[in-house]
Amino acid sequence: MELNRRTVIAGAAAAGLAASTLGGTAQAASSAARPSPGREKPVKELFGRLPDGTQVHRWSLANGGTRMKVLSYGGIVQSLEIPDRHGRYANVSLGLDTLDAYVESSPYFGALIGRYGNRIGKGRFTLDGTTYQLSVNDGDNSLHGGAQGFDKHVWDVEPFAEGPDVGLRLYRTSPDGEMGYPGTLRVKVTYTLTRHGEWRIDYEATTDRPTVVNLTSHVYWNLAGEGSGTVEDHELMIAASRYTPTDPGLIPTGELARVAGTPFDFRRAKPIGQDLRAGHPQQVQAKGYDHNWVLDKGVTTRPEPIATLRDPRSGRTLKIATDQPGLQFYSGNFLDGTLTGTGGRTYRQGDALCLETQHFPDSPNHAHFPSTVLRPGRTYRTTTIHSFGVR
Ligand code: BGC
Repeated sequence: MELNRRTVIAGAAAAGLAASTLGGTAQAASSAARPSPGREKPVKELFGRLPDGTQVHRWSLANGGTRMKVLSYGGIVQSLEIPDRHGRYANVSLGLDTLDAYVESSPYFGALIGRYGNRIGKGRFTLDGTTYQLSVNDGDNSLHGGAQGFDKHVWDVEPFAEGPDVGLRLYRTSPDGEMGYPGTLRVKVTYTLTRHGEWRIDYEATTDRPTVVNLTSHVYWNLAGEGSGTVEDHELMIAASRYTPTDPGLIPTGELARVAGTPFDFRRAKPIGQDLRAGHPQQVQAKGYDHNWVLDKGVTTRPEPIATLRDPRSGRTLKIATDQPGLQFYSGNFLDGTLTGTGGRTYRQGDALCLETQHFPDSPNHAHFPSTVLRPGRTYRTTTIHSFGVR
């Protein structure tokens, strides 16, 4: 234990040195004084107040070398810190400093997304013969649950420390008709930090009327540290032979297209920047990658490995396992240098990427996509595990 602590302190001191001599980010420098990243039970502090006075809290927790801060507003991961190959910590998740900034201008940084991750065409779908009109907030379409999605609500948060794990349980009841969706949806999302430093997300939901549901998490990753520049050199692998091409509004056309011979082929790890400017019509339309990959494993009863991300400079790696059938890979195309992050630096196009495990966008309007329908008496359950390492 003592040895461990010393090693970490030595590593942290080295980080301070590297930050000053090599021009590292403010984030790296501030981590110099950080204590050992052992198991730390969740601790709560006041983060801010919404315009109506509602208090928003921030929870800090750590385990197995991973340290995170989570807001009760939107279940937002404000920061997630992991070590590089020299034990130097960096915050690898884009975030903002204040509650006001999140409320005013966050493009879903670190947030929980619901009721429906990604887009539903024209914000409309028909279920059991009834057509529902959802909140439209992205051109003609509904994005990430509509204008007031789960990312814009305060969740009830219950901390836990059980066996070797620590974590947070987040609860929210979405009333019948919220954003146009049928059914009262009772949602529970559990964030667990395991003793191996994995971040596991378990989603659960029940309804009292037939509805559709597709929950996900919208962390923007930069394994070199948020605010450190582009992720184009990050190597990405996605275990998918097909993806879903979209129309200009980024709604799937319904086709399941092969990735072979296209820039969309990530079956072997390659740098994100390698084919980013290949000029494929689907890339031009989306301003980069902003598509759903059809995972070869399909829907599974347990989480299976589907993607790896590696930053060659720091050696930091992220491996994702899920039971979901799809992965939305978004290459940060709409970051435009107007937001300043937690480390005091602005975020520009391609400074992060999102890897959102989920069902396919617009599934309620495509009968051949895996179903997102949830009926009374059934429980929606899904799990995604993020494992961190160095290589
Ligand atoms: C979508 C993008 C969108 C981003 C932020 C991603 O999940 O695929 O089109 O711009 O979220 O809203």
